[in-house]
Amino acid sequence: MKEIYSAAQLMELEDKYGAHNYHPIPVVLESGQGVFVTDVNGKKYYDFLSAYSAVNQGHCHPRIVNTLIEQAQKLPLTSRAFYNDKLGVYEEFVTRYFGYEKVLPMNSGAEAVETALKLCRKWAYEKKGVPHNAAQIVVCENNFHGRTTTIVSFSVDPDAYTNYGPFTPGFIVIPYNDPDALADVLANNPNVAGFLVEPVQGEAGAYVPDEGYLRKCFELCREHKVLFIADEVQTGIARTGKLLACDYENVHPDILILGKALSGGVYPVSAVLSSNEIMEVFQPGQHGSTFGGNPIAAAVAVTALEVVRDENLAQKAYELGIYFREEMQKLCEVSKIASYVRGKGLLNALIIDNKDHENLAWEVCLKLAENGLLAKPTHTNIIRFAPPLVISKDQLADCIKIISQTLLGFE
Ligand SMILES: Cc1ncc(COP(=O)(O)O)c(C=O)c1O
Repeated sequence: MKEIYSAAQLMELEDKYGAHNYHPIPVVLESGQGVFVTDVNGKKYYDFLSAYSAVNQGHCHPRIVNTLIEQAQKLPLTSRAFYNDKLGVYEEFVTRYFGYEKVLPMNSGAEAVETALKLCRKWAYEKKGVPHNAAQIVVCENNFHGRTTTIVSFSVDPDAYTNYGPFTPGFIVIPYNDPDALADVLANNPNVAGFLVEPVQGEAGAYVPDEGYLRKCFELCREHKVLFIADEVQTGIARTGKLLACDYENVHPDILILGKALSGGVYPVSAVLSSNEIMEVFQPGQHGSTFGGNPIAAAVAVTALEVVRDENLAQKAYELGIYFREEMQKLCEVSKIASYVRGKGLLNALIIDNKDHENLAWEVCLKLAENGLLAKPTHTNIIRFAPPLVISKDQLADCIKIISQTLLGFE
């Protein structure tokens, strides 16, 4: 007989047998549809996290799920030891979709970032002429690019890097949103190979740089023959109101990193896109992944990207984002605990004034969950709001009501 567990028991199991590397909001989810998720007790919530922006197309999108099922029943994995009938089709589709010549398929966001870093270094030695092992990559303060040893080597968040040393050398950290700092570094370091940047810093709390920042940095990179590498794992694929956040400034990165919503959240799929000239530094045997480019991933990614285009999700996120921030701004004027809102498209954050109560943002999220909306603090005083982009204006209005009533209940 099938054993039925209560929510409390399921949380206990995770607590007892799983590593404690996350601190989840205490709800146990069992199903999802569009903008909603339902817990094991049948309570329905608006999902305002979208699995960190992986579920832009909404939970269980029927077209994406059908592609997944069909391909899983036919041929899930070949490895790259052989060709398969889905990968080339996907590669043509995704490169045209984003305007690149080549793609390198991986699985997680962190793997794609690692791939981009390796690509950049190899290009520096083989194309730019940087002396052996001297390449530097410039990154920004408060970055979040994943959890591998190399990536945490250039994190400034003590939780991310403490006790994971020795660290990978070859990174220069500069302030975000400061093109002069980049100009300075590039003027004084001929061995800089690349500049890795999030067009909006997601994990830092939807931190949007000044208008013109990306363009200035891109031009500086051009001037110094440095690769402009955009990590759009969280911001990409319509989340910020354009297909890519870089599109706001007509910046076409030399290397583009994608993940998360590339599969609509149904499967781990990531990608690194670039030109022939850059990508050709990888030759057989020099980089790879058993699962990267597998037939399920390839088929699912095509459908997930078609959904973004067919349902006009970028334009939707753009318009609903403006409406959401306007309403949150009004809330900030009357709420004693909401300081301000910031963001782009439907990647937004509400800053909570927690000076009298350190855990206030967490408690607000618990109350939001009670009231039917799931969100999670990033850092102690910031609540990220990132619903699936398939949300309707009426649903968003309903969510604004829940958020407003919840926050006003904290006075
Ligand atoms: C900008 C950015 N890069 C990389 C990653 C890492 O992606 P993954 O968790 O799939 O490794 C994330 C995850 O949140 C991210 O936001």
